[in-house]
Amino acid sequence: EKGGYDHFMLKEIFEQPQTIFDSLRGRLDAEQQTITLSGVDKIKDKLIAANRIIIVACGTSWHAGLLAEYVIEELCRINVEVEYASEFRYRNPIITDKDVIIAISQSGETADTLVAIENAKKQGATIFGLVNVVGSSIARLSDAGAYTHAGPEIGVASTKAFTAQLALLYLIALKVGLEKQTIDSTLFNKLLGDLAKVPQYVHEILEEQDSVIKEIADKYSDARDFLYLGRGYNFPIALEGALKLKEISYIHAEGYPAAEMKHGPIALVDEQLPVVFVATKDNYHEKIVSNIQEIKARKGRVIAVVSQGDNVAASLADDVMVVPQVHEIIAPILSVIPLQLLSYYIGINRGLDVDKPRNLAKSVTVE
Ligand code: M6R
Repeated sequence: EKGGYDHFMLKEIFEQPQTIFDSLRGRLDAEQQTITLSGVDKIKDKLIAANRIIIVACGTSWHAGLLAEYVIEELCRINVEVEYASEFRYRNPIITDKDVIIAISQSGETADTLVAIENAKKQGATIFGLVNVVGSSIARLSDAGAYTHAGPEIGVASTKAFTAQLALLYLIALKVGLEKQTIDSTLFNKLLGDLAKVPQYVHEILEEQDSVIKEIADKYSDARDFLYLGRGYNFPIALEGALKLKEISYIHAEGYPAAEMKHGPIALVDEQLPVVFVATKDNYHEKIVSNIQEIKARKGRVIAVVSQGDNVAASLADDVMVVPQVHEIIAPILSVIPLQLLSYYIGINRGLDVDKPRNLAKSVTVE
């Protein structure tokens, strides 16, 4: 049942070219340059007129939501807030019938997310469910929605469900942006084209980087702490990389926006501390390059996810994981893949049960 892989986690990481493809299939037509999503059509008027979109989720799904905030605000010019479901449900939030809530959940059974949307629904908000498990509670409670189609995810650490969530969130943002005419056709076509190629790119990363990452993991498996840094669209990926490492290896890891480093975390840096930079090419790439230099100047050990051909960032880092270069909005769905593998191999090196980390449950149905 593990399809020849040692663990479900590794199987699910390697399934991603297929699962991302499945998430896009029948929805994205790169040739016709169209996006079909009946769930979005169903609440199209609400979405276009929305006062704001509130994204409610937990854990890895919350990280997908954070990236969606950046992407939807950029492409659709709609105000987006991202909320931890557990906080949102207890703090008497201001909700009106002009709000659209997007609930993101792999299992569709996370108690905090479920109750949060129940409350919001009572206050008149429209609920859009972005769920992996078909027929789950969150899917049933939603007014409209779309399934991620990642297939059953058995590993407690979410991998393929996350990238399927991102693929679907990109489609939603592109579709709404097109309807609202807040995205020009050149950018729309570029993003659609890059997105269509993501399954192939993920395949290439897995093929080319797996053994490289295994070696990197061997060098860093004894570390006591890790820092993960990223800016802009890659900031949510820094958070996700750190969460994955914590869950799988029990190594303390923190994710931070790279520029926040000098407001505190930089005090942690010494020759012992590995700092993972999510440093793929974007519009202000030189900023993260100088953040890498700041860490090197303090003798930190730098592992960097870089775009193919970026010799500047690569030459500064002690170790590099390379991903194909795509538009900066699409880059995060690629940058997360090496980080999943890094956590997996470090967990394995430490002799841990990566499919069932201690104290964790696959779906958190208690509050
Ligand atoms: O099923 P959900 O997506 O609602 O689950 C949310 C979190 O519990 C989940 O993402 C958790 O953080 C995972 N263990 C992450 O790997």
